[in-house]
Parts: sequence; C-alpha cells; structure tokens
Amino acid sequence: MKILGIESSCDETAASVVENGRTVKSNVIATSLDEHKLYGGVVPEIASRRHAESISAVVKEALERAECTVNDIDAVAVTYAPGLIGSLLVGVNFAKGLACAAVKPLVPVHHLRAHIASNYLTSDLKPPFLCLVVSGGHSHIVGVNSYTDYKVIGRTRDDAAGEALDKAGRVMGLAYPGGISIDRISPQGDPDKFTFTHPKIDGAPYDFSFSGLKTAVINIVHNASQKGEELNIADLAASFQKNTVQCLINNLEKAALNSDYNKIALAGGVSANSLLRAECKKMCERHGLSLYLPELKYCGDNAAMVASQGYYEFLAGTRANSSLNAYATMPIDNVIF
Ligand code: KG4
Ligand code: ZN
Repeated sequence: MKILGIESSCDETAASVVENGRTVKSNVIATSLDEHKLYGGVVPEIASRRHAESISAVVKEALERAECTVNDIDAVAVTYAPGLIGSLLVGVNFAKGLACAAVKPLVPVHHLRAHIASNYLTSDLKPPFLCLVVSGGHSHIVGVNSYTDYKVIGRTRDDAAGEALDKAGRVMGLAYPGGISIDRISPQGDPDKFTFTHPKIDGAPYDFSFSGLKTAVINIVHNASQKGEELNIADLAASFQKNTVQCLINNLEKAALNSDYNKIALAGGVSANSLLRAECKKMCERHGLSLYLPELKYCGDNAAMVASQGYYEFLAGTRANSSLNAYATMPIDNVIF
C-alpha cells in the first residue's frame, strides 16, 4: 500500500511516498530556513507564503521520484496538528483538494505521532516502546502502546528542549537554529566550565522544565557583557548542552526503570543531537534496554514520517473529509479532527 505524506507544520514543505509504512520511495523537502535565519527564528507569515508557493512542485516531485502518479496512491496523509496554523492550513487544504480530486481517502496525522514514526523508517521497531520526543515545540516522554495508542508519561512545563537550545544559541550569538549550532560548537568547549541547577517538579518526576536553564544562560551572557568580560562561547554551549541532555536522560531513565518497556526510542529534531544520542546509548546499555534512533535525515521535519504514521492510522480506520481543519495545539493521546 502506497501513502502520499504531506508535511507543512513549520518551515519545511515536504512530500513523500512510503510503501507499507516502512519503505521510503521518495522524500522531498523544501525549506524556508535561510530566510528565517535573518530574524533569528521562524517568521510564521514568511513560512506560510513559502509553503503556498512550493507545495505543488514538492508534491509533484515526490510522486515523480517514486515513479508513480496520484492514481497509484492508496491514501493522502497530511499533518493537521500541532504547529503554526497558517503553515498547517497550506498542507491541509492542498491535501484535501488532492484527495477530493483524485478520489482518495484523506488521513489526518498528528505531527508528534509522525516524529515517533520516523523510527519505523530505519528499523523494525514495533510498539510497545517508550519514546522521548524532543522537537522545537515539544518535549514529551511517551509510552507508545500501539501504532495509534499513546500515553504521555512526562512533558515540559514551559519551554521545549529545542526551544531552549535555540534561544540559548541566539543569546550566545550563534546561527539559527541554535540547537544545531550548539551541537556543532560544543566539542570545542569544556562541558564542566559552567554549572546549572536542574529543576525538580514536585509530584511529577518525569516532567521537564527548561526555562530556568535558558534564563541562567541569558544571565551569564548579560552579566559578562555588563562587566565587559569575554565569554568562551564554546564552553558555555558545551555546558548548556550537557545539562539539557542530562535533564532529558535523567527523566527518561527514571520512566524506563519504573515501567515495563524494554525498548527506548528517540524522535524529533533534537534527537539529531550527538550528545543526546551518545548518552542515551550509554543509559540503555547500563540497563540492558534496546535503543532505537531515527536516521539523521528523518529527525527533522519531513513527510516520510507522515506517510509512515499515515499508513498505520489508515489501517486503524482514521479518515477525514473535506471539513478537516488545522489546529495549533492538539494532545498526542487524544486527537480530534
Ligand atoms: O522536529 P523539528 O525539526 O521541528 C519541530 O517540530 O519543532 O525540531 C526542530 C528543533 C529546533 O529547536 C532545532 O534547534 C533542533 O530541533 N535541532 C537540534 C539539532 N538539530 C535540530 N537540537 C540539538 N542538536 C541538533 N543536532
Ligand atoms: Zn517537527
């Protein structure tokens, strides 16, 4: 069964054809990232316009590279939530039009479920497993009990890990997105140079909070500039990265040990982080857990993961019609559309 996936929740316009949820036939991504770099973050209005301009060509190319036409597709899967509303609407409306014109089923896909499905593209991972989903907008520890049944075990109370990395990178004067810049510069720095207090949330041992870490970095940078002191940015980046990763791993480890899951997966843009991947590997080795990591090309936003999850949603009977809307927020474990 071939699913055409469409993704436009942030600044990537993407389309992909995936067979039986696992075999990627094409994976096309157009991004407006370079334009957003000028502003140090994604400008929603620019992202929406670029989606509208490129979506037809991106979908056409995805079909061509998969050597098929829309007639060979069994269903159109589209990210409808969560994300930037203007961006999501471009993909949703395009998918609705295409599904209607080609008389194909329309399958709505939750963006974080799709991130989790990026693991299905690179390994034989099957639920149940425990997944740390870390992106620019979300940080969740999720029990994946089946392909469409999820239990949120922990979540961030404020900033997402990616958001904190991006804001910290920005105040350090590094290029957007800060998460990637911090990952790149950290090997040149001393990760023990700066210490940060790890937040604890009473009664919620698996929840995260990253705003305190982020504020601590902002204060370090401001204090140094007020005193006219030169900061070693590589040291600060390495220390911030180390502490962010420690917070993520500590809660993931606790959640894994206090549950019956013996398979652990990472997902989302931050799962590309080299320290997070290495530390997770060590943690899993310590406890005899199996670790699954998405291939780097499927960590960030792409449509292959949407097509993969779309396949499993299709099998579960998930269907939308032409009244499908986009939503800026939507829980992963209780979706409506
Ligand atoms: O999943 P994603 O592409 O988009 C959202 O759904 O948000 O995640 C984007 C986030 C950004 O915050 C970016 O800085 C972060 O993923 N990111 C990284 C790395 N690559 C991307 N963070 C740390 N290390 C990386 N190598
Ligand atoms: Zn994403």
